[in-house]
Amino acid sequence: MTKKILLSGAKPTGIPHIGNYFGALKQFVDLQDQYETYIMIADYHALTSIHDAKLLRELTHELVLTYLGIGLDPEKITLFKQSDIAGHTDLAWIFECLTTMPYLMRAHAFKDAEAKDHEINAGVFNYPMLMAADILLYDADVVPVGRDQKQHIEYARDTAQKFNNAFGETFKLPQDLIVEDVETVPGVDGRKMSKSYGNVIPLFGTDEEITKAVMSIVTDSGSDIPTNVYAIHKLFKTEAELAPLYEEHKGKYKALKDVLLADILAFVIPMRERRAYYESKPELVAEILRKGGEKAKAKAQAKMKIVRKAVGLE
Ligand code: ADP
Ligand code: TRP
Repeated sequence: MTKKILLSGAKPTGIPHIGNYFGALKQFVDLQDQYETYIMIADYHALTSIHDAKLLRELTHELVLTYLGIGLDPEKITLFKQSDIAGHTDLAWIFECLTTMPYLMRAHAFKDAEAKDHEINAGVFNYPMLMAADILLYDADVVPVGRDQKQHIEYARDTAQKFNNAFGETFKLPQDLIVEDVETVPGVDGRKMSKSYGNVIPLFGTDEEITKAVMSIVTDSGSDIPTNVYAIHKLFKTEAELAPLYEEHKGKYKALKDVLLADILAFVIPMRERRAYYESKPELVAEILRKGGEKAKAKAQAKMKIVRKAVGLE
């Protein structure tokens, strides 16, 4: 039986934190056996916000090591860099010629970016079309993403539909895959964990960095259960496991933070070791990306042949 196709990716724009892990990255690992899996480093998307070659190179490397460190198996999946495959931008252009400006102006991400800065670049505006191309080029059935990316998958579906109506049945309609019970991971201040709020627990931080982050979790004096500590703890232990612990240490915030810290470290240390293994083998990592790029390219080129024919470019 042939497996369904999964495609997802992340932008190399920061040091991954546990919100990125539980909200998005973890699912890639959990699903890699079940699907024919394509995981992408969305470096073209990162260019919308990073204009520093050295930084982009470093963050790209960091994301590759993160993917390998969390347990994506390069023997099973296709790991590749978006910018290595010409089809992504080729197809994005074709989609941009089909879609309308008012439709793109309705995107939440665009509206948020525009509210902050009117001088946004055209890449930010066209972002959903490049993402639609990423997904549709590989005939993806499912796209695991964090909740904030749901609308982008809708854009991909709509674009597939629009193309099929205009040029004949060409693209599959992809489905998003969102882990409902994780949703938004809170940061140490209780707001959404995000690199832009500086409230993160870094996934591959040192013991000291993780300790510092955990000890800085804001606790609401007065209640027996420190809400923010508990909300993060729930990611590492079941509520049934936590109940007796929080009962025993009622109101003792420091003791609860100590347990949380131990649980986080026990969880991240094996991943950190795997990441260090790949970090010490740069040729192996380059070979993984080269092989992944070749596989992705073959699939993308075959699809682009069909697309070019459909629209009359060939
Ligand atoms: P950040 O907010 O730190 O800039 P990104 O926007 O780069 O993170 O998010 C990358 C991926 O991680 C997205 O798919 C997003 O849904 C997921 N993600 C980021 N922060 C969280 C969070 N706090 N909870 C759940 N998922 C998250
Ligand atoms: N926009 C996604 C994010 O910010 C990253 C991404 C780019 C992506 N292309 C994709 C995710 C294709 C899934 C499928 O997290």
